[in-house]
Amino acid sequence: MSEIHVVSKDNRQLYQNYFDPYFRLRYDIYVKQRKWMALDRPDGREIDQFDTDEAVYLFCIDGGRLIGGMRAVPTVMPTLMSEIFPYLNIREPIQRPDVYELSRIFVIPERRGEHAGPRIDMLLLTAIMEYGISTGLTGFSIVLESWWLPRFERCGWKAHPLGVPQMIDGMSVLAVLVDCDEATWASLCGQVGLRKPALTWRGLAGVNRRALPDPWSPVPPTVQPAQSPVRGAGDCAT
Ligand code: COA
Repeated sequence: MSEIHVVSKDNRQLYQNYFDPYFRLRYDIYVKQRKWMALDRPDGREIDQFDTDEAVYLFCIDGGRLIGGMRAVPTVMPTLMSEIFPYLNIREPIQRPDVYELSRIFVIPERRGEHAGPRIDMLLLTAIMEYGISTGLTGFSIVLESWWLPRFERCGWKAHPLGVPQMIDGMSVLAVLVDCDEATWASLCGQVGLRKPALTWRGLAGVNRRALPDPWSPVPPTVQPAQSPVRGAGDCAT
């Protein structure tokens, strides 16, 4: 059973054993497979200047093995969009406590595509929305390849372009701001077949969290007003 864990500076010590495999996996996926050579490092780990104490990670763990992940960085800190790709955002720079920047979403190759259980990529997209609602975020900024847009559209993620796509290293890349809202999260839970929240907050009891809405309870039937007798053509209104 795949579980999605929230990992931040407050509980990182509980996940120490996962960080080395995590950065090595990122190296395998982004440098070796995707050939994003700007991320190459001699130690075989993909770590950048945004992997700070303030970064929050979603680790998808199955049977003790890390099979997917995603990173969220507060936009009040330096981000990919502010430091590396500022020209992709032709609007106001995004530096807001209620917006985090998402990056480094991945699923290990053997767990991609359709599977018997929920798709891991969809689980991650649902889980990060749950994280956002729980912590009072209203949006996610992302620098992404254009092929994400139809995927977002299909699953109900509302992505607002912040500029026009540009070709970077042979990829069409753009900046977007995605709404983080309860309706999108509830719809994703339905699509993924989740019957309860997805996130595990081990060691994060001290984090101030909002109560999630409950999209699983049956909606009570709408109360119909009592039928008034049908008026005839000659009836008086008063
Ligand atoms: N370029 C273009 N389209 C891509 C793509 C890429 N590099 N990677 C995935 N897609 C699209 C395609 O439409 C693909 O359909 P196809 O099978 O017909 O090619 C579809 O996504 C399904 O992708 P798939 O790789 O089977 O797995 P998934 O949907 O379970 O997971 C990712 C999607 C992105 C999580 C997974 O492909 C992955 O981990 N990729 C490596 C990391 C990465 O590139 N992350 C995004 C940038 S941070």
